[in-house]
Parts: sequence; C-alpha cells; structure tokens
Amino acid sequence: MILVLYGTETGNAEMVAEDTGDAIDASYIVNLSDITPSDLDPGALHLFVCSTYGEGELPASAKEFAAALAQDQKLGGVPFAIFGLGDRSYETFAGGAKSLRALLLSCGAVEIAPIMLHDANGPELPEDAAIAWAQAALARAAAA
Ligand SMILES: Cc1cc2nc3c(=O)[nH]c(=O)nc-3n(C[C@H](O)[C@H](O)[C@H](O)COP(=O)(O)O)c2cc1C
Repeated sequence: MILVLYGTETGNAEMVAEDTGDAIDASYIVNLSDITPSDLDPGALHLFVCSTYGEGELPASAKEFAAALAQDQKLGGVPFAIFGLGDRSYETFAGGAKSLRALLLSCGAVEIAPIMLHDANGPELPEDAAIAWAQAALARAAAA
C-alpha cells in the first residue's frame, strides 16, 4: 500500500500531493491533519509532501501530527520518504520538511529514498519534480 501524506498551509503541498498520488496510483492521499502517528503502518510506504511556513516552521496542517510524533511515538520500521516545498530566498529553506524528517527518524521510521527539496524560484514545477521523485522512491523500495 502506498500513501501520500501532505502538510500544507495554503494548499500548494495538497495540490502537489494529489498530482503525485494520481500519477503513481497511490492508495490514499491524506492530509496530516486527518491522521495521527499511530495510523502509520509498517507494511505501507509513506510519501510525505510538506511545505514550510513562518520562519522555517511546519505548515498548519502538519503541526499537530508533528507534536504527537515528538511525544516519543514509536514508529519502528515505518518506511517513508519526504518531498519538501520551499523557497531558497528564505534562510530557513525547507525547514518544515527537514524537521518532519528528523522527527520521523527519531521515532524509528526508515527513510527509503533521499529527501528532495523543491525551490519555488527554480525552473521546475513542484508537481513534476515530485512525480519524478516519487517514481524513483518506488523503484528503490521495489529493489530493496
Ligand atoms: C509567509 C510565508 C512564509 C514562508 N516561509 C518559508 C520558509 O521559512 N522557508 C521556506 O523554504 N519557504 C517558506 N515559504 C515558502 C512556502 O513553503 C511555499 O510558498 C510553499 O509552496 C507553500 O506551500 P503550502 O501552500 O502547501 O503551504 C514561505 C511562504 C510564505 C507565504
């Protein structure tokens, strides 16, 4: 089972998650505000799409999920990868995606593909970058 999970403030990550989930035939596309860490399943692949807001902070829809993770959730073996939306003109480029990654790792989740950080000022559309990233992550997971 493949889940695409998104954290968003103004909807960009949601749009990217939906395009990505459709392109890879994901089982579910879920807002992080609608789940808790205990919903994550070690038998499923979790592809997170997360923006950054404020000064390097998590976006609104990911905050509660992250706070629950920080309460020492045990995620032994949960496979994941993260795509971060951000803007390099901020010193805190993609801080939200980076902190979500750190939290997942600290809880024992297993990163199955490298984090990819998308710069809003770059030439590539975030959905194009995310679809290519997700396809590469799936290929890695299949080869593992
Ligand atoms: C008020 C504001 C603060 C932002 N802060 C950051 C930041 O600290 N670091 C970063 O990389 N991007 C930052 N961004 C860029 C957002 O991550 C980017 O616009 C993203 O596409 C928003 O996605 P969302 O609509 O899913 O929240 C900020 C954008 C706004 C409007």
